[in-house]
Amino acid sequence: MAWLVAGGYGMLAQDVCAELTARGVGFDAPDRDRLDITSPEEIEAFFEEMKPEVVVNCAAYTAVDPAEENEGLAFTLNAVAPQYLARAAAKRGIPLVQISTDYVFSGTSPIPYAEDDAAHPLGAYGRTKAAGEWAVRADHPSSYIVRTAWLYGAGGPCFPKTLARVLKQNGTANVVDDQHGQPTWTKDVARIIVDLVTKQAPFGIYHATSEGEATWYDFTRAIAAEVGVSEDEVHPVSTKDFPRPAPRPEWSLLAHGAYEGTGVEPIGPWQERWKLAAPSVLAEVE
Ligand SMILES: NC(=O)c1ccc[n+]([C@@H]2O[C@H](COP(=O)([O-])OP(=O)(O)OC[C@H]3O[C@@H](n4cnc5c(N)ncnc54)[C@H](OP(=O)(O)O)[C@@H]3O)[C@@H](O)[C@H]2O)c1
Repeated sequence: MAWLVAGGYGMLAQDVCAELTARGVGFDAPDRDRLDITSPEEIEAFFEEMKPEVVVNCAAYTAVDPAEENEGLAFTLNAVAPQYLARAAAKRGIPLVQISTDYVFSGTSPIPYAEDDAAHPLGAYGRTKAAGEWAVRADHPSSYIVRTAWLYGAGGPCFPKTLARVLKQNGTANVVDDQHGQPTWTKDVARIIVDLVTKQAPFGIYHATSEGEATWYDFTRAIAAEVGVSEDEVHPVSTKDFPRPAPRPEWSLLAHGAYEGTGVEPIGPWQERWKLAAPSVLAEVE
């Protein structure tokens, strides 16, 4: 089976490729130079030549704050381009996996968001990703929308690498303690993506995040433990102390009900997954 992993050099894409390799599944993972997903002509030519049997779109405009100033560009990449991929996949009757985000929600719900809750993004990035979900589902019902959040992985810059560096250099860090989420390892999301397709789970929306709940402060304490810095050196501060251009959802926990009956195991508790992930994710942090 030949999988196409678009945006193939990204942080999540690298672990999707590793998962496919581990399972002996053939794939091609072009970077933007070999397949620019904003070009329907390039997509058509690539599909004709490669003849993929599954498409995973890991390409995206992921810069949350710059998206506030560049919403048009973000929309092209996060909504229009996924629609091109969806049309090319639908034309050939092959499944597509589109990656999305907790930022499609406002983060004001008192309970974890269900897969079919209405989107209500707070900022430009979330609006463009919500539009991408809609575009893919409208043009290709045989698709999976996999929402994830608070992603970290060995293959790209991410929160734990940054904070591990800060802690090692300064011995202390001030971190916001009033945004709640689910720290999630790219390797776990990759496993979910490949499982959904290979186990032929029903098409639709799935939430690929860890179980449990953490603030960035909680997560940083767990990071400190991995780099030999006392957890007491991590100090809680408020979002108001770190003003950013894009609003952040305060409480963006995602529920995992859609896995029931699919044979796909949800991701376990974030603390356990982080313990397992830390050695490889922090391997190159000086
Ligand atoms: N990171 C998170 O915390 C997080 C949280 C929730 C959801 N997500 C979603 O998860 C997915 C993967 O995120 P990630 O963190 O792995 O992102 P990433 O590391 O930024 O990877 C995105 C990739 O897309 C590529 N790309 C950009 N424009 C392209 C184009 N026109 N054609 C082809 N490729 C293009 C980028 O290449 P260049 O480097 O050349 O630009 C980059 O390799 C995204 O859909 C993102 O929205 C991420």
